[in-house]
Amino acid sequence: MIQIKNVSKVYRNDTVETKALDDVAFEIKKGEFVAIMGPSGSGKSTLMHILGALDTPTSGTYILDGEEVGKLSDDKLAEIRNKKIGFVFQAFNLLPRTTAMKNVMLPMVYGDVAKSEREARAKKYLEMVGLGDRMQHTSSQLSGGQMQRVAIARSLVMDPAIILADEPTGNIASNQASEIMAIFQDLNEQGHTIIMITHEPDIAEHAKRIIHIKDGKIVKDSDKHSQRRAK
Ligand SMILES: Nc1ncnc2c1ncn2[C@@H]1O[C@H](COP(=O)(O)OP(=O)(O)O)[C@@H](O)[C@H]1O
Ligand SMILES: [Mg+2]
Repeated sequence: MIQIKNVSKVYRNDTVETKALDDVAFEIKKGEFVAIMGPSGSGKSTLMHILGALDTPTSGTYILDGEEVGKLSDDKLAEIRNKKIGFVFQAFNLLPRTTAMKNVMLPMVYGDVAKSEREARAKKYLEMVGLGDRMQHTSSQLSGGQMQRVAIARSLVMDPAIILADEPTGNIASNQASEIMAIFQDLNEQGHTIIMITHEPDIAEHAKRIIHIKDGKIVKDSDKHSQRRAK
């Protein structure tokens, strides 16, 4: 499903050059639950942006479902981000003063889902994450864990094959973090491919595979077979 081949990313400005990713290679198959773990500044968010088709590598290739992402048009990239990938961010990225229901419906507005269908689907996914009784609450009326569950419901409404989460428990209390991890494990059992970025080892432990990254390089991959194949 995902092939990352010899990917490097260099950020340049007038005076400095930062190599955020240095010749990274791995594959992720459909149905995997992978954590990408590393300390702050190791290149995790950079890798997430590339995997999410939000940014492109400086060199190397990213192949998603057989298509080289770096060669796609902006329209096609926008479509991939809307339909193929569900994003979950550390800061939730919900609209303030807007109900859980409206937040969850938003991707469907851009995704050409019939109006009659939007509400039913939003309701279904909010119930799935245990927020059936909070659908009319605005973001500011919800706890961190609840906001992240709204964001997870939002990530699911276009039925994406991949869920990409960047530090999903970074801004929430630890008792609520385990609820979030339980939801990801359920989703993975239902067949969703999950890629979760974290700097916390106890959060990474919930995944089936851990890719360790340091200074822009993969230093360990618990799925060694995949590491061999990616070379
Ligand atoms: N837009 C940018 N411009 C310049 N340097 C950047 C930019 N984004 C990230 N970096 C640098 O790239 C490295 C990796 O950053 P990042 O991918 O955000 O790491 P992490 O998410 O693991 O903390 C860091 O040294 C960071 O300072
Ligand atoms: Mg980061």
